[in-house]
Amino acid sequence: MELHVVSHPLVDHKLTVLRDKNTPSSTFRELVSEIVMLEAYEATRDLLLEDKPIETPVAPMVGKRIAPPRPMIVPILRAGLGMLDGMMKLLPTAEVGFLGMKRDEQTLDIITYANRLPDDLTGRHVFLVDPMLATGGTLVAAIHYLAERGAREITCIDILAAPEGLKRLEQDINPDINVRVVVAAVDDHLNEKAYIVPGLGDAGDRLYGVVD
Ligand code: URA
Repeated sequence: MELHVVSHPLVDHKLTVLRDKNTPSSTFRELVSEIVMLEAYEATRDLLLEDKPIETPVAPMVGKRIAPPRPMIVPILRAGLGMLDGMMKLLPTAEVGFLGMKRDEQTLDIITYANRLPDDLTGRHVFLVDPMLATGGTLVAAIHYLAERGAREITCIDILAAPEGLKRLEQDINPDINVRVVVAAVDDHLNEKAYIVPGLGDAGDRLYGVVD
């Protein structure tokens, strides 16, 4: 697993406003979108290109375009949806799949409650998006779910990560899967409720309001 922490003054500034508990949901959603675009710029660095002959108004030339098959963006519901808009702005030709996974707050087990993904992901570069890499349980389960469908190039884009979650990814992911993790920051630790500290609270609630 390869970790990339995006280091940029714009990311640091936006992240501080995002973390502030007084930031309203509307601003929070905009900031998530902006931060994910800055992260996606780094996360898409390894996309394969092919030649594309074109004619400019002045001369013919051979340009570049993203090589098929089309990349796949997979937000993990619910909080990952908040990152979809920014990802699609940067990668408008990508396809979008959905994976509904959540943590049982009592047992901390991962439950898959929805999926809308192609059966065959062979050769596809998958961008798995979820704002909070906390225990790593959801992400490990999601990565193996995608790998069972043939994905071997998986880039996870998270806003914040906890060291505990990164360690778990390192230990639990099948080494045959090429996993890259792009984050805006690695925080200090997880608290007893598995929240990232200092973190930003419950990302889903801050994006969409609390649902009981
Ligand atoms: N999920 C969240 O939304 N926040 C955390 O701090 C940890 C997991």
